[in-house]
Amino acid sequence: MKDIILKTNTSESVIHCGEGAFEKYAPLLKGIQLFIVTDKNVFGLYRRLLWDTFGNNVPIKILPAGETSKTQRYLLEIIQAMADAELTRGSYVIAFGGGVVGDIAGLAASLYMRGVHLVQIPTTLLSQVDSSVGGKTAVDFKKIKNLIGAFYQPEQVIVEPSFLKTLPAREIRCGLGEIIKHGALEQSIYKKLISAENLFDLDFLGALVEDNIRFKAGVVSADERETGLRKILNLGHTTGHALELNYGRKSHGEFVLIGMYYEMYIAQCFGLGGGVYFDNLVSLIKTVIKKVPAYEDIETAVISAKYDKKNTGSSKVTLVVPNTEGRSAELSIPFDEYAKLITECRDILKGTK
Ligand SMILES: NC(=O)c1ccc[n+]([C@@H]2O[C@H](COP(=O)([O-])OP(=O)(O)OC[C@H]3O[C@@H](n4cnc5c(N)ncnc54)[C@H](O)[C@@H]3O)[C@@H](O)[C@H]2O)c1
Repeated sequence: MKDIILKTNTSESVIHCGEGAFEKYAPLLKGIQLFIVTDKNVFGLYRRLLWDTFGNNVPIKILPAGETSKTQRYLLEIIQAMADAELTRGSYVIAFGGGVVGDIAGLAASLYMRGVHLVQIPTTLLSQVDSSVGGKTAVDFKKIKNLIGAFYQPEQVIVEPSFLKTLPAREIRCGLGEIIKHGALEQSIYKKLISAENLFDLDFLGALVEDNIRFKAGVVSADERETGLRKILNLGHTTGHALELNYGRKSHGEFVLIGMYYEMYIAQCFGLGGGVYFDNLVSLIKTVIKKVPAYEDIETAVISAKYDKKNTGSSKVTLVVPNTEGRSAELSIPFDEYAKLITECRDILKGTK
């Protein structure tokens, strides 16, 4: 088991990571005034563990599972329940669940009395390798993802790999999306991924969680507010988000991989990447997404990439693309050219070019 420290200018988070982390660190919170936020699926699976660890009279807000709960309605319901439980500034909010629970509980913790203590206990692969670390909290608003949010670092993150044992396969693929993205940014993760016998093996993934956290914590420590380095974590996301918005159905992480695939085609058109390195990344992507989709009307779907938050105006689309092992590059290209290259890549996938 390892402790990773994430230091920013204003805060310090301790991330306890590894088999046995929950058993060792969660009981230490007992006796403090706690408030748990979780979702229905997770509560169904881990009710007994929560009660045995924190006591069966601990106040708890159980959200419906999934992204549709990440709204202002449930944010206010959580805050209402916190007030009903008479939480004070010294109280601790425990976010026990995936990224949805972590994001909304984190925002509630940042708002209640201008901020109470926050502990993230992530239970999905995506939340363990990504969302529980770095302090981004949010709810969706007016159909825009994460429109209302705050940077609010958890005091502790307890990362227990054994929670992954109950995850459905789709959620493993989702987490692998962000892990492969990290691999395209960090060489040692890349090396471990390409030499893995089975990417889906839970022991392999459990061990890899720590590398991913260490990498993300390093990036966030250097640039908490995403004014520079942290932008690299958006690799694959410009196109991925646009396709997710239009075609839905697959998980977020799978769309990141599909976005990465299309953007790697664009990178090569600009003389970036290529060779064995890109072949290996494509083979990792295809291990998770058996067949990269050749979407109809993709030229219309990617219009939303025009409004991506990374763009700097002047109708250009900004992409973070892999370049060489451990190094990414930023491309800023006119929207028309971007749409033309995305369509070209789709036609190649379709076999019509
Ligand atoms: N804050 C950040 O930096 C950041 C980064 C990436 C993503 N996110 C956000 O994270 C969210 C996605 O997170 P997610 O993929 O964890 O989704 P999620 O929280 O919806 O969880 C996915 C599903 O898995 C279930 N689940 C959770 N843990 C389980 C377990 N141990 N066993 C069985 N089922 C379990 C949940 O009930 C849910 O149905 C999105 O809202 C996204 O915007 C935030």
